[in-house]
Amino acid sequence: MARILIDVNRPQLTATTDEYKALESGDILYFPQTPFELAAEERAFLLGQKQAGGTLHKNISYRPAIDKLKGVEADDPEQFRRTHEIMRNYSQRAVAFTASFLARYASTWKLDFASFRPIEEHGRAAARHARNDLIHVDAFGSRPSHGNRLLRIFTNINPEKPRTWVTSDHFDELVRKHASEAGLPKPPHFWSRVRSKALAAAAGVGIPVVNRPEYDRFMRRFHHYMKDNENFQQTCRKDRWDFPPDSTWIVFTDTASHACLSGRYALEQTFIVDRRGLVFPERSPIAILEKMVGFPLTARSA
Ligand SMILES: [Fe+2]
Repeated sequence: MARILIDVNRPQLTATTDEYKALESGDILYFPQTPFELAAEERAFLLGQKQAGGTLHKNISYRPAIDKLKGVEADDPEQFRRTHEIMRNYSQRAVAFTASFLARYASTWKLDFASFRPIEEHGRAAARHARNDLIHVDAFGSRPSHGNRLLRIFTNINPEKPRTWVTSDHFDELVRKHASEAGLPKPPHFWSRVRSKALAAAAGVGIPVVNRPEYDRFMRRFHHYMKDNENFQQTCRKDRWDFPPDSTWIVFTDTASHACLSGRYALEQTFIVDRRGLVFPERSPIAILEKMVGFPLTARSA
């Protein structure tokens, strides 16, 4: 995997076709200086969360679509209000920058959550499938992507320490080596086709069912397979990346396998990029998988 360095002072701060290609293939776009504003006072407030008495959650999350903050105790209204304001500001600036740098996606993406990660990742206790220090590709259990892609922008606001990642192969290489052992989707039989069409139709008219297509089921299975597989974790190719204080990076975490080994105090905004907005759609996980199995994996591809 490669980390593509982006100078924030270059004349045109918009992604080139080569940069879109690298990003969509699973490389990391890396900005040694954060390319949008984060006021010193806002950073200091977030770093002081613990000292201010707020309970430390794994995540403080902000949902831009409904302007809602989660993960902060509401018993201190002023602390809650200020955290909400800072997360809203962060989300808006991260979105504005990404919409300008990756303008090709902005008309079709859906804004997902923003988060602040205040806990040291090294040694953090978590259930195996929730661990960040095991190499994996992302697949959201509760929010199926239907073949659309998970794009994330991260900023390390730790004033002293880097955030350290290890990455392995891109998605195409990983599935070539491991997908059959993880369990590739099987051709759907008649009743499962009827069932998924009915679920898609129900979801389409707003009935609250979770319509999880084959694609999302495979991606979740593959996520678990990677984290459960000790041999893979020990023997796979590894590249180590330190993201120093005040750096920012952008990555498709459904294609770039990754683990976070250490670091605390990162901000992150997620986007669900519509597959129709991709510059190289043939490099998306769904295209790679559908080519392997030879049949559609979501209702939309059928
Ligand atoms: Fe992840």
